[in-house]
Amino acid sequence: MTNIIEITGLTKTYSKLTALQDLNLTIQRGEVFGFIGPNGAGKTTTMRILTTLLKQTSGEAFIGGYSVAENPNEVRRLIGYMPDFFGVYEDMKVWEYLDFFAACYEVPFHQRRGMIGDLLDLVDLGHKRDAFVESLSRGMKQRLCLARTLAHDPQVLILDEPASGLDPRARIEMRELLRELQGMGKTIFFSSHILSEVADICTSIGIMEAGKLVAYGNLEEMRRQLQVHRLIQVRLLGATEPLKERLLHVPLVQSVTDGTAVELTPDIVRFDFTGDDMELSHLLRDLIQEGLPIISFSEEMGDLEDVFMHATRGIVN
Ligand SMILES: Nc1ncnc2c1ncn2[C@@H]1O[C@H](COP(=O)(O)OP(=O)(O)OP(=O)(O)O)[C@@H](O)[C@H]1O
Ligand SMILES: [Mg+2]
Repeated sequence: MTNIIEITGLTKTYSKLTALQDLNLTIQRGEVFGFIGPNGAGKTTTMRILTTLLKQTSGEAFIGGYSVAENPNEVRRLIGYMPDFFGVYEDMKVWEYLDFFAACYEVPFHQRRGMIGDLLDLVDLGHKRDAFVESLSRGMKQRLCLARTLAHDPQVLILDEPASGLDPRARIEMRELLRELQGMGKTIFFSSHILSEVADICTSIGIMEAGKLVAYGNLEEMRRQLQVHRLIQVRLLGATEPLKERLLHVPLVQSVTDGTAVELTPDIVRFDFTGDDMELSHLLRDLIQEGLPIISFSEEMGDLEDVFMHATRGIVN
C-alpha cells in the first residue's frame, strides 16, 4: 500500500464554528507533506484528529489502513506526534525525559539506553544528555521533543509547527533534521506558516484557509491550479513593435507592455502568460522560427508568498 494517510470528507465542528470542512487528502509513503495556513485555518485540528486525540464530527481518516476513530491503538503505534507546545518537565534530565517516553511506548528496558544515545545523536543533543530539560534553549527543546516522537520508531511523523519560534539557524537545523528523517524512510506531515521554508523540503503542499483546503500539490501544480499569472520578460535585438504585435494574437498572453512603459530598457517586452510550461516553450519556439530576434526569454518567478496570498484570499473556491 503506497497511500499511508487517507483522509476523506473530514469535518470538525464546534457548535456553530466549522474548524475543518470536508477535507480530502492522500499522502503516500515517504512523502514530506507541508500543511500550510494562517492562524485558525484548521491545521492543528486536522493533526489532532489524525493522532486520535480529537474525534471528528464526520468523515474518515486512515493511517496505514487503520481508521483513526475505530483503531486508535494501531494508529498510535504507527505515528509519532509533536504537538505545537512543549509541556513543562521540571526536574527531569534530558535522558530521563526520553527514557520516560520510551517506557510509555513499551520499549524494553535493555534497549532504551542505546536508543536514547542514538536519538540524542540524531538531534545533536548528545552533549546535553545529563542537562535538565528546563535548562535547554527553545531550539534544543524542540529537537528533544522531536527525538521523543521517534522513541518507538514510528513510520509517520505528525509535527505541528516544528520550526515555530526558532531563530533562522535553528530553523535550518530543523529542516536538515526533517530531511534526514525523510532519508530514513519516514513519512512526514508537518504544519507551518512559513511557505518559503517548506517549499524545498516538501514533496507536496496543502494550503488551508478557514477550515478548507484551498490548494494542493507540488509547488508547480499549485501555481497552475491557482493560475498565478506568470510574468515573462523578453529582450530583443532591435524594435519591440513586431513582438508586441505578434503577442497580442496569442490567446494565453495578457497585458503586453514594453520597456518604455515600465522604465525598463526599451529593448524589453513583458507580458502575462496563463499557460503551462509546455505552452510557453511552444510560444518561444514559434517566435524564434518566425525570425524574431530574441536575445533572452525569462520568467520572473512569482514567489511562494504570492501563491499563498492568492490561495488564502479565496481566489480558488
Ligand atoms: N476546543 C475548541 N473549541 C472551539 N473552537 C476551537 C477549539 N479548538 C479549535 N477551535 C477553533 O477551530 C479553528 C481551527 O483551529 P486550529 O487550531 O486547528 O487552527 P490552526 O490552523 O492550527 O491555527 P494556528 O496556526 O494558529 O495554530 C479556529 O477557529 C479555532 O478557534
Ligand atoms: Mg495550530
